[in-house]
Amino acid sequence: MIIRPRRLRRSQTIRKMVRETTVAAEDFIAPLFVVPGDGRKEPISTLPGQFHFSVDTVVEEADVLWGLGVPGVILFGLPDRKDGVGSRSYAEDGVVQRAIGAIKSQIPHMVVITDVCLCEYTDHGHCGVIVDGKVANDETLEILARQSVSHAQAGADMVAPSDMMDGRVSAIRKALDDHGCQETGILSYAVKYASAFYGPFREAADSTPQFGDRAGYQMDPANAREAMREARLDVEEGADMIMIKPALPYLDIIQRVREETVLPLAAYNVSGEYAMVKAAHEKGWIDGTRVMMEMLVCIKRAGADLILTYFAKEAAMLIRG
Ligand code: PBG
Repeated sequence: MIIRPRRLRRSQTIRKMVRETTVAAEDFIAPLFVVPGDGRKEPISTLPGQFHFSVDTVVEEADVLWGLGVPGVILFGLPDRKDGVGSRSYAEDGVVQRAIGAIKSQIPHMVVITDVCLCEYTDHGHCGVIVDGKVANDETLEILARQSVSHAQAGADMVAPSDMMDGRVSAIRKALDDHGCQETGILSYAVKYASAFYGPFREAADSTPQFGDRAGYQMDPANAREAMREARLDVEEGADMIMIKPALPYLDIIQRVREETVLPLAAYNVSGEYAMVKAAHEKGWIDGTRVMMEMLVCIKRAGADLILTYFAKEAAMLIRG
């Protein structure tokens, strides 16, 4: 007798019946880039289908996403000016702060998350302040805490620190609590690798470091045990959810962290992962739509509960049919 697993693949209905993992619009968090000005919706050359939005147009985009069932967005800001310490990152009238208010007033139930980092706001492009030519950890924490409080006060549901400084989750938690923002959550980029897959994002966010690289704070792609340590630390420091980034070359890390933590786990399907699909589709080398859905289901299968992805809108539209 032959054991015949193919019996369960005989028809579309049977396949659907035995499917172990599904992807839905509510699994997605859409990254959005906010720029100064009014009425702006400008294509980002390195991320086909993504745009720089001003505060007014970002609300329209968030509304479309919400209508498609996407429950949350993560905001990135490109400030009107940069300086050495990223002071526009915590300005009350900053683009992100204004975008949070605008989205929450128009779509109050949408979850608004903010990326907390300095790289878009510093003239040197590093994720922290520079002291003696180096990215200084503890000095950076104060600014990250300030930025987080300003996002929380503007109405953000959750802040997402992405800088990879040590001790930032506890520093941010303390600052939020001290300012009466006990209800604001922290989605920590707990395991973030120093990855070349961020290339298209740095173009979009104008955040390429002007000297050196990020290997002194982001993780070495060769390390998995260290990921467990980073994840544990952020859980102990009070993160509400943790994230792994990038997603696709790190599915093993997603799986390992999933086995260890009970917190909701997010994976960031980053800019390079998106851009590669768009470029290869453009050339006619792959079917971009099918590759998109395969990637998303595989990230969930590895153990992610939520996926931050530039595909959010396109995939949500496809799922809706
Ligand atoms: C840092 C940040 C980066 C991304 C998200 N937050 C860039 C970096 O660390 O260089 C990358 C996201 C992507 O590539 O899609 N603020």
